[in-house]
Amino acid sequence: MDKLIITGGSQLSGELRISGAKNAALPVLAATLLSEEPVSIGNIPHLHDITTTMQLLGQMGIRLTIDEKMNIEVDSSSITKYEAPYDLVKTMRASILVLGPLLARFGEAHVSFPGGCAIGTRPVDIHIDSLIKMGADIRVEAGYIHAKASRLKGCKLVLDKVTVTGTENLLMAAVLAEGVTIIENAAKEPEVSDLALFLNAMGAKISGIDTDILTIEGVLKLDAKNIHYNIIPDRIEAGTYLVAAAITKGRVLLKDVRPDLLDAVIDKLREAGADISTGDDWIELNMHGKKPKAVNVRTAPYPAFPTDMQAQFTAMNSVAEGVGIITETVFENRFMHVQEMQRMGADIQLESNTAICKGINQLTGAPVMATDLRASASLVLAGLVAKGETLVDRIYHIDRGYDHIEEKLSQLGASIRRISG
Ligand code: UD1
Repeated sequence: MDKLIITGGSQLSGELRISGAKNAALPVLAATLLSEEPVSIGNIPHLHDITTTMQLLGQMGIRLTIDEKMNIEVDSSSITKYEAPYDLVKTMRASILVLGPLLARFGEAHVSFPGGCAIGTRPVDIHIDSLIKMGADIRVEAGYIHAKASRLKGCKLVLDKVTVTGTENLLMAAVLAEGVTIIENAAKEPEVSDLALFLNAMGAKISGIDTDILTIEGVLKLDAKNIHYNIIPDRIEAGTYLVAAAITKGRVLLKDVRPDLLDAVIDKLREAGADISTGDDWIELNMHGKKPKAVNVRTAPYPAFPTDMQAQFTAMNSVAEGVGIITETVFENRFMHVQEMQRMGADIQLESNTAICKGINQLTGAPVMATDLRASASLVLAGLVAKGETLVDRIYHIDRGYDHIEEKLSQLGASIRRISG
């Protein structure tokens, strides 16, 4: 298993290009299942979860070709299997995203219950109950969801909770349903909007994009020709590198990024003392050599502060000036990084869904274990400012979601290397 070794102490400085968003690329790739025509997707990030999705689609009989610039051409005209097997799904929860499109286009889907990051129970009841409301016949047996429907029927769905992949699955199911589907309390995350725009480019009729009420007028098929769609930039990758610069009192210029999707994160970084300027597709952060101030953060669905940035801010608070309180409201078990940071000397107290972080002068390098994707990133950030060497184990989590992290951090002057075995 690969590990990362980081020697702390370098003040990061430089420029970086941000990759396409993992959480947009995954639903967009799943949505290609709906298209009668070949489609081409650009700005795909180089990530393990993308490889898993390509394997998942490939084993259904879909033809995928990828060029050196990470453009993927997908031809879903001939599908031989309507199944997402456990072996693939267990490593990536987003595999559940094939359920809606398979059922909508082929009337049948067999999808293993998802795995992915261990950050809470993460049920899929809203996906299943809503598809049943749309007329699907769903049976759960031996760890699989077996779904059938001759043609799904549009209806009004009021989601109990804001769910990102839930909204995406239902959007994909509704585009080919008979009649109109209205999804209320829909997730407004930019990745949901990116999927909706892609579906519309393929011929779907979705309105209310960027709001929490999505209206989908069902069509018989999606057969738009010559579609090329570029995935939006990854706001979480961008946010992580902004924190990397902030925590090291450094400076970074991010390119190919969408600052408008990062308002909550940028506000908190400014509160922490960062000098930030933005343009249409760039963000520059400069700490002018100053230590960040601790900030209070409360995670919630978009446009509030993203849960996927919580661990990185916990790392920043652990070496910041003062005390910062982090409240996690989206997932109930998302503080696994805290225990590892405590092993590096961090003064963090956990009280149910709250982490009280008292900034200390310096963390101490230690062997630590990555437990989920964003937690892993936060341990790398902690390693950047720790005294001595930090060894981050189980970094397959990082490879699921960060495109060439050690190369990008090295480019900014970090001392970080990967070792195999
Ligand atoms: C997605 C993102 C993940 C991010 C999360 C919240 C992808 C591939 N992953 O995950 O990076 O952290 O959104 O922004 O896009 N819930 C239910 N029942 C359901 C579905 C969800 O109770 O059927 C609950 C979950 O347990 C959680 C909350 O709803 O407490 C939000 O989860 P959800 O938005 O569904 O997260 P994911 O889509 O899995």
